[in-house]
Amino acid sequence: MCGIAGYVGTKNASEVIIEELKRMEYRGYDSAGITVTHKDELFTLKTVGKLNALEELISAQKTKLNSHCAIGHTRWATHGKPSSANAHPHTTPKVSVVHNGIIENSAELKNKLIKLGYEFESETDTEAVAKLLDYYYNGDPVETILCTQKELVGTYALGIMFKGYDDTLFALRKESPLIVGLGNNENFLCSDLNAILNYTNKYYILENNELAVIKKDSVAVFDQNGQKLDKKINIATWQADVNDKHGFEHFMLKEIFEQPNVLKEILKHNIKNGLPDLELQALPNLEEIEKIIIVACGSARYAGLLGKYWIEKFARLPVEVEIASEFRYSYPILTSKTLVICISQSGETADTLAALRLAKLNNVPTLGIINVKGSSMSREADHVIYTNAGAEVAVASTKAYMAQICILYLLAVELAFKRKTLQESQIFELSKDILDIPEKLLNILKDNLKEVENLANFCSQFSNIFFIGRGLDSAIAKEGALKLKELAYINAQSYVAGELKHGPISLITENALVISLLSQERLQKKMISNILEAQARGGQILLISKEKILQNIPAQMKTLELASCNDDVMPFLTVVVLQLFAYFVAKTLGHDVDKPRNLAKSVTVE
Ligand code: M6R
Repeated sequence: MCGIAGYVGTKNASEVIIEELKRMEYRGYDSAGITVTHKDELFTLKTVGKLNALEELISAQKTKLNSHCAIGHTRWATHGKPSSANAHPHTTPKVSVVHNGIIENSAELKNKLIKLGYEFESETDTEAVAKLLDYYYNGDPVETILCTQKELVGTYALGIMFKGYDDTLFALRKESPLIVGLGNNENFLCSDLNAILNYTNKYYILENNELAVIKKDSVAVFDQNGQKLDKKINIATWQADVNDKHGFEHFMLKEIFEQPNVLKEILKHNIKNGLPDLELQALPNLEEIEKIIIVACGSARYAGLLGKYWIEKFARLPVEVEIASEFRYSYPILTSKTLVICISQSGETADTLAALRLAKLNNVPTLGIINVKGSSMSREADHVIYTNAGAEVAVASTKAYMAQICILYLLAVELAFKRKTLQESQIFELSKDILDIPEKLLNILKDNLKEVENLANFCSQFSNIFFIGRGLDSAIAKEGALKLKELAYINAQSYVAGELKHGPISLITENALVISLLSQERLQKKMISNILEAQARGGQILLISKEKILQNIPAQMKTLELASCNDDVMPFLTVVVLQLFAYFVAKTLGHDVDKPRNLAKSVTVE
C-alpha cells in the first residue's frame, strides 16, 4: 500500500504530485506529504489526514512550493499510527525518502544508527532508510543508494531526493511496484501507471533491484552492481479512467449503478453465437486440466467461491479456493495438470502476486482474472482475462467483484462446453440465463432502491448482524458481511445456515439481526428450517428471497423480494442488494463510504 509519486520537468511539481497522488489515494489515505527542491534545499510538508489536508498546506506555502522537481506520498500505516511525524517523506538535511513496502530489519538498523549518534522522530520503518542513506552519503547518490541497499531486508519501492541535486529523482525497487513515466522534457515516478496516464503513455517498469536516475530529459537505470541497463520502453494502449462521481453522492454508489453496463459489456465481448468464448487459446491443453486452484484475497476470494460452485457443477472439475496469504506459505500439490487462477481487481495485492509467483515457480499454468491493466499480475500471469470494469475508486469492491463473478460463470460454462460435461442445449440455456441479468439488475436499482434504504435504516441500530445462506447464497453471505464490516464497522458474521446449530446459534438473541439469503429454490426447505430456528431464539429476521419462494414462508418477518431467475444466476441479483444495504447503513451511520477507516484499496504489503 502507500502511493509514491515523483516529478521532474518544467511544470509546477507540487501540482503534478497532487494529481498523481489523487489517482493513488486508494493505496492509503491516513496521511500525505511532499518534498520539493527549493533554492538548493529540500523542503518538506506533511500532514495527517487525507490529501486535501496536504493541498491546504501546499497552498499556504505557495512560494516555497514553486519547484520543478518533487516526490510525494500517500500513506497506509504499517509501522506507527497515522500522524504527521510518521507521514512520509522522511528526511535528514541531506536526503528525503518516500517508501512503499516494509523494511523487515528496521529495528536492527535503527539500533545501529542510534549507536552512531542518529536520533529518530517517528515510529516508522522508513526513517531508518533515510538515516542510513544519510550515513552512507559520500556525494555520489548512486553509490550511496547501492551501498544502503545491501543492508535493507524486506520489500521496498523508494523515491529519493538528495540535497544539491535539484533536478534529479532517484528510485529503487524490490517487490513493491514502481514505474518511471517518460514524458517530453519531463519524467515521472509512480506506484501505479494510471496515476500518470494523463501526462504520458510511455513508461519503464522497474524490476527488482533496479535503480533509476531520473532527470527531466533523461532516465538511466542500473542494476545492483551499478551496471547501466538497456530498458525496454512500454506503451500503454489505454486511457486514464475519468475519476468523476457523475452526480452520484459517492463513488461507491456510482460504481454500484455501473454494474448492469459492466455486465452488458462483458457479455457482449465474451459470448459469441450463444456460447462463451474467453479466448483461452493461450492456455494450452485446457481440456486436460485435472484440478483448478483459485487464489485471491477478500472479495476476490469470495468471488472465487462462486466460481468453484459453478465450475464443479457445470464442468465437473475439482476446484480449491485458497486465501492467498495462506497459500503462499503452504505446501500445495501442484502438477502440470493443475491450473492456478489468481483473481484480483488491482493486480497488485502482495499475497496474490506471491501466490502467482509460487505457481509459476512450480511450472503450473496460471490465469489471472484482473481489472487493472499494466498491473504486476497482468504482466506475470501466463494468460489474463481482463474484467474491464473500469476504474473502481471506492475502497469497497462492487463492480469489480460483479465483473469477476461474471467471468467465472462464463469460464465454468466454457469449460463445460470444452469438456463436454453438458449438452449443447444446456450450454445455450446457461448463456441465456446470464444474458438476462443486466436488465434484471437495472430493475432492482430502479424499483428496490428506496426499500433497501428503509431496511438499512432499520438495520443500522443492530450491532450484531449475521448473514446466513446455503449453497451459492453462503458465498454471497460472506461478501455481504464483509461489505457491512468494512463500511459500517458493524460486527457482521456470515455462516453457512446448516452450521448455525453447531455452535454459532448460541449468539442469537433478540439483539441479533439475521439476514437470511434464500435464492436457491432447491435448498429452500432446509433453509426455511434454519431461518425458523434462528427466529425461535429471538433473532430478528430480514429475509432476502426469490419472489417465488416467499409465498412458502410460514412466519412473519421483514422481507425483500427479488425477481425470479435460475438459481445459478441469482447471486448476481442478491449481491447488489447487499452492496446497497451496506452502503445505506454506512451512510446512515455517517461514515466515509468511499474511504472507510483503516483500509486501503490495494494491499501491497503482507
Ligand atoms: O485488488 P484485489 O482484488 O486483489 O483486492 C483484494 C481485497 O483486498 C479486496 O477485495 C477487499 O477485500 C475489498 N476492499 C472488499 O470490498
